[in-house]
Parts: sequence; C-alpha cells; structure tokens
Amino acid sequence: MATEEALNYNNDDDEILRPDDLSEYLAAGTKEAHDRAENSPFAKDFLRGRIKRELFKLGTAALYHVYSALEEEIERNKEHPLFAAVYFPSELHRKEALAKDLEYLYGSDWKSQISCSAATRPYVERLHHVGQHEPDLLVAHSWTRYMGDLSGGQILKKVAQRALKLPANGDGIHFYQFEGIHNPTAFKRLYRSRMNELEVDAETKKRLLAEANLAFKFNLQVFEELQEIGNGIKEEVQDISFPAHGDLGGDISK
Ligand code: HEM
Repeated sequence: MATEEALNYNNDDDEILRPDDLSEYLAAGTKEAHDRAENSPFAKDFLRGRIKRELFKLGTAALYHVYSALEEEIERNKEHPLFAAVYFPSELHRKEALAKDLEYLYGSDWKSQISCSAATRPYVERLHHVGQHEPDLLVAHSWTRYMGDLSGGQILKKVAQRALKLPANGDGIHFYQFEGIHNPTAFKRLYRSRMNELEVDAETKKRLLAEANLAFKFNLQVFEELQEIGNGIKEEVQDISFPAHGDLGGDISK
C-alpha cells in the first residue's frame, strides 16, 4: 500500500518538522543513546576500518536474527493502524539481503553455521513480544533500525567494503545496499512524514520513546558482545586470505 506513493517520494521536497512530531521526538530522545552507540569501541574500530572478518560475519549473523524477527512481526502487523503507514517491505526489508551476505561469507551451509548469540537473543525476544503483545510499539523498532541503516549504515558499507576487500558486485554488503531506494535522504523524508501521520496519543508517544531507547540498548549490547569476542581473536582482517568463494579481483575503491 505504501509503495505507490513511495515511487513519487523524490518529488516531495518540503519537509517541515516540529519537535513534537514523532520522528523528531524519537530522534531527540535517543540522541544520547545514539552518541553512546557511535562512540562505542566496536563502532569506532569499525569506522576506522579495523574490522576483523570473523566479527563482520558474526555481526551479519546477529543482524539476520534481528531482521528475521523484526520482519516477521512487521508482516503480522502490516495492517495495524499504528504501523500500516510505514509498511515499506520492498524498499526496506533486509532479511533476504542478509541471507545472501551470509551465503557469501559462510558458504552454502551458512544456516547450520550461525546461531543466535547471547546478546542477540533478548533483542529477538523483545521484537516478538512487541509484535505479538504490544504492536503499537513496533514502529519504534522499525525506525531505529531502518533509519539507522539508511544513515550511518551507508558509511559503514563503504568502510566494510574497503577494509574487508569485498568485491565491487556487492557480495557481503547487500544488507547496506537498498536496491529499492535510489535516494536515501528523500526516502527518509517520506518515512518521517508517514510516521508523523500516525495517530499517536501522548502516552503511546512516551512508550515509543522508551522502546526506541530499548532498541538502541539492545544494539549496543550486540556491539559490546562483538567487541568482547574480537578481543579474543588474533587475526587482523586486512591480512587474511579471502573469500570462501567468489572473486577478489573487483574494484574495492567504491
Ligand atoms: C542517524 C551515524 C550507529 C540509529 C544517523 C546519521 C548518521 C549516523 C550520520 C544521520 C544523522 C542526521 O541525519 O542528522 C551512525 C554511525 C554509527 C551509528 C557512524 C556507528 C557505527 C547507530 C546505531 C543505531 C543508529 C547502532 C541503532 C540501531 C540511527 C537512527 C538515525 C540515525 C534511528 C535516524 C535519526 C533521525 O531520523 O534523525 N546515524 N550511526 N545509528 N542513526 Fe546512526
């Protein structure tokens, strides 16, 4: 339902946002949590291109579990009055992209090689709880992940591609590549305007902010877990032979 208008989102240039709009309320109220995530040792290392391949693989596996749960719950609630307006499956959904990345990174038997980590599990459980028992909060999770992926995620894509010497064809980083979105800034504008049309009362708005902060906390805990695992891994990713299959000869300067 959202798709038809999404095709025209490039034309919608004027964005007038007020502090009490849901999108701005969540952005302001999660600023501290965002700063914490951005300044966490894992994120800082990642941004500097200090990513161990093993950690990138584990991070991708964590995201697969998170997005499988998120998108299962989104499908369940796609007609919910506090979600339907931000239902953009063809533009946003990441599960298939992550499956492709995992197949590249782990090989064809990737499913048997990955598991849901200790830090990822409570995040996944919360997503299912929200989807099944408090669906009015689902938009907080969807906003936290997808708007983040369309923002900082675009920086991480380039860093990962360079640091891990991934091929230019997108193997390994399909997650960061939104094929259905040609202009992330314009799409974010559309998403925000849809969010701000949701009929959210003051009490729900507060609960949504608490939920978005909880989503940030889960993400930070996954970062911390990865950092901890990384401390125990000796190899520096830039030096390892790579990949399991596929070609290394592509242009890595993208
Ligand atoms: C927005 C960077 C981590 C969620 C942004 C923006 C940047 C950014 C540059 C755009 C800000 C703007 O438009 O004014 C980063 C970097 C990160 C990081 C470098 C660390 C590697 C995260 C994490 C999450 C997240 C872990 C949550 C899972 C968001 C959200 C927005 C955002 C929801 C949209 C805020 C809005 O609409 O104003 N990020 N980010 N980010 N990020 Fe991050």
